Amino acid sequence: MSSQIDHLLDETRKFPPSEEFAAQSVSSPELYERAAADREAFWAEQSRELLSWNTPFTRVLDWSTPPFAKWFDDGELNVAYNCLDRHVEAGNGDRVALHWEGEPGDSRSITYAELTEEVKRVANVLEDLGIGHGDRVAIYLPMIPEAVASMLAVARVGAIHSVVFGGFSADSLRARIDDAGAKLVITADGGYRKGRVSALKPAVDQALSDRGDGEQQTVEHVLVVKRGENEVDWQEGRDVWWHDAVPAASADHEAQAFPSENPLFILYTSGTTGKPKGILHTSGGYLTQAAYSHKYVFDLHPETDVYWCTADIGWITGHSYVTYGPLANGATQVIYEGTPDSPHPGRWWEIIEKYRVSIFYTAPTAIRSFMKIGRSVPQKFDLSSLRLLGSVGEPINPEAWIWYRDVIGAGKTPIVDTWWQTETGAIMVSALPGVTATKPGSAQVPLPGISIDVVDESGTEVGNGNGGLLVITEPWPSMLRGIWGDPERYKETYWEKFENQGYYFAGDGARLDDDGDLWLLGRVDDVMNVSGHRLSTAEIESSLVAHEATAEAAVVGASDETTGQAVVAFVIIKESYLSAHDPAGLAQQLRLWVGEQIGAIARPRDVYIVGELPKTRSGKIMRRLLRDVAEGREVGDTTTLADTAVMSIISAQVK
Ligand code: PRX
Repeated sequence: MSSQIDHLLDETRKFPPSEEFAAQSVSSPELYERAAADREAFWAEQSRELLSWNTPFTRVLDWSTPPFAKWFDDGELNVAYNCLDRHVEAGNGDRVALHWEGEPGDSRSITYAELTEEVKRVANVLEDLGIGHGDRVAIYLPMIPEAVASMLAVARVGAIHSVVFGGFSADSLRARIDDAGAKLVITADGGYRKGRVSALKPAVDQALSDRGDGEQQTVEHVLVVKRGENEVDWQEGRDVWWHDAVPAASADHEAQAFPSENPLFILYTSGTTGKPKGILHTSGGYLTQAAYSHKYVFDLHPETDVYWCTADIGWITGHSYVTYGPLANGATQVIYEGTPDSPHPGRWWEIIEKYRVSIFYTAPTAIRSFMKIGRSVPQKFDLSSLRLLGSVGEPINPEAWIWYRDVIGAGKTPIVDTWWQTETGAIMVSALPGVTATKPGSAQVPLPGISIDVVDESGTEVGNGNGGLLVITEPWPSMLRGIWGDPERYKETYWEKFENQGYYFAGDGARLDDDGDLWLLGRVDDVMNVSGHRLSTAEIESSLVAHEATAEAAVVGASDETTGQAVVAFVIIKESYLSAHDPAGLAQQLRLWVGEQIGAIARPRDVYIVGELPKTRSGKIMRRLLRDVAEGREVGDTTTLADTAVMSIISAQVK
């Protein structure tokens, strides 16, 4: 099969930066020139400028045993020192590091001096519990300041954290604890979600119980934060209350320097098949690119900006753009514990108004759900502090992009659509605000210092105007260093496909437009083949969302006797439309609409109007399950869905 992905939808709107924005922006076109002149020298310069090294590095990149990279490998640093102490030493101890907002409305503002002291105490507690260099610590916490403090304390003592999203089950937690051989688990009695306390400690107890013969228990202690008022079962000797141990510990803790390639964390990500992959990231290169991208992509002015990334620390976005990037840069940020609609649908906008948030970073799935409710909700709040908006996690459809800019960004904020992955560790593709003219729906250009291409199955460049496979052609500082305990799987998954060229294959389809801007077309596993044309799910979804009735859409290819595959669409209609129109009529209208917008080849065979779409806990649509419904099969494994009931509702609606 050819890897050429046919492209049918055209987007011509462009928004150059305002003069006012460009004049104050931290980036400049000259960054691209410097990076192009000497890539490695550019990264060395960034690293020296943005980080404090105890032992300065003399080597930049060691790529002598690909695909295993080493960056800055004779340098030594402490990651937590870089995120905390040095800001206090520079006289910024009184700056707020975290404005934390709990779901019930409680809040705390924590300065860099306070966070530094807390992390030093936690580091002492960890060492008392036997945690040191190279040990693994599982973190299973809600979005509370202790979550950020835990990550940094683990880093401070040279241990490795594995954050497990609080929405994962006991079984998922158990698999992750066992794979990493964690010695300690840090958890809470619970956390607030949708107005009630969802329990966490019972899942830890369950994950650690019932060991079979020969099944080793690596966990020695469980450190428990009291957040809700949940009763917890207590195992004497194993369990330790945070509020007993941390305040009693010393606030003196010297940050020891560790080698640049010291592992910093493992983060599990699901593959298409088999068990989750423990993506391994290390220290100096990771922190360099996290800080660099955070500074330039978000145009960070740490003295004046208030930054808010809505991601949970359970995802890579919460690692790089809540904990490490912003704190390394000395930013002031907001973190929020709960769901966007608790206790009312305007909660996020209320938080932006309250803290005068200036930079806001979220996911397309959230934006589309706000579109579904309607603009009257955000319009009740004062969002005038916002000056930059970001998007991550999925392609953002042009219409959602425009809505985001108009309704949230008052029709003037630049939007950066950032493409990257758990594996890449930090942003790889994005506009630079103040430099790039932004284009709705396109992630646009590799960051200075990053080399990306779009190639066909044989690894040949497709060139502008064509679609193919997204590859990264040169090693980058925050690249994954492997899969925990499985170097073979690392090579096979990411490097085997373009072994001859030495390219990293990201698993995404992409297209270069005539300007050379990148358009992400979704995972290649999701691409459809209709009558011999490879069509992108993302493009047809964008066309559906461009219809005024649609809030959200997912498209799959279902096998079809005549065309090989047929386009099947699942569409959520905006609330204001549903009441006034009949569903059958709307479905027919949407079929014709896609036909007009893209062409007859893309016209869906079936359009199903549904109330919800199946999503993973990080908000990605699980098209595999929709394909099962579209092909009339029994629905496959739904255990990784955020809401497992959704599929039976959709199946019933479709029938
Ligand atoms: O398919 C791409 C999509 O999300 C994948 C990575 O997912 P994950 O490791 O969970 O990391 C999400 C946060 C970085 C990618 O392979 N993706 C991510 N960002 C974008 C995107 N697709 C299109 N546009 C984006 N901006």
